[in-house]
Amino acid sequence: MKLSKRLKAIYDLVDEGAVVGDIGCDHALLSCALMLNGKAKKVYACDINEEPLKQARKSIEYYKLEDQIDVIHCAGLDKLPKDVDTIVIAGMGYETIRMILDHHPEKIKHYKRIIIQSNRDVESIRKYISEHRYHIQEEVCVFDLHYYQIIVFDCSEDEKLTKKEILFGRRMKKDNVFMQMWFANYRKYEAILKKLPKSNENYASLKEVMDLIEEEIEV
Ligand SMILES: C[S@@+](CC[C@H](N)C(=O)[O-])C[C@H]1O[C@@H](n2cnc3c(N)ncnc32)[C@H](O)[C@@H]1O
Repeated sequence: MKLSKRLKAIYDLVDEGAVVGDIGCDHALLSCALMLNGKAKKVYACDINEEPLKQARKSIEYYKLEDQIDVIHCAGLDKLPKDVDTIVIAGMGYETIRMILDHHPEKIKHYKRIIIQSNRDVESIRKYISEHRYHIQEEVCVFDLHYYQIIVFDCSEDEKLTKKEILFGRRMKKDNVFMQMWFANYRKYEAILKKLPKSNENYASLKEVMDLIEEEIEV
């Protein structure tokens, strides 16, 4: 099975032998890949909506993985069994991700790896992690028509993130994709700033972000 670059990057962040909760599994392609290649020990494919779960069941039947993947119809982590050690919450917005995590503050403490890929507002995800003093283990950027950032964290105690770390990550792999993403952002902000009067309320904050990007990469 060929995963998209985004899903492959998430797949790569799952530990060998993990028991995974794929939250908001949709088509369950990630769940299937994790079991097909023997990477995960067990996967629970969960979704709040029945329609995606129909797709999930089809994928699971197609790959003959009915004995290895349990499909669960539930919101967030509500019905996730206790043996799960890794959760993936991918392809959703910040608000939904926050709601899912906030709903089970005790449950998430036990997970070894919480793998998050928010489609928007990655900075808000980092602020959330920082406010809770959670620990970021790993971060990667991937380009798959859009730039995506994936964050792996756990609930052990860590220092709050600095302003720069909120923007660029604390443990981000600073590879070519990372550089290209920030170069593209810089050019976008530069074009916006040119049209913005200095008196505009957003001018100073945008200029500050651009200054931080200049410190971080060569623009
Ligand atoms: C865009 S899809 C992402 C699918 C897959 N995770 C991926 O990254 O390709 C989002 C899925 O999340 C599900 N979803 C949204 N809110 C949810 C929640 N609170 N709990 C569980 N699933 C949810 C939707 O039904 C949808 O199938």
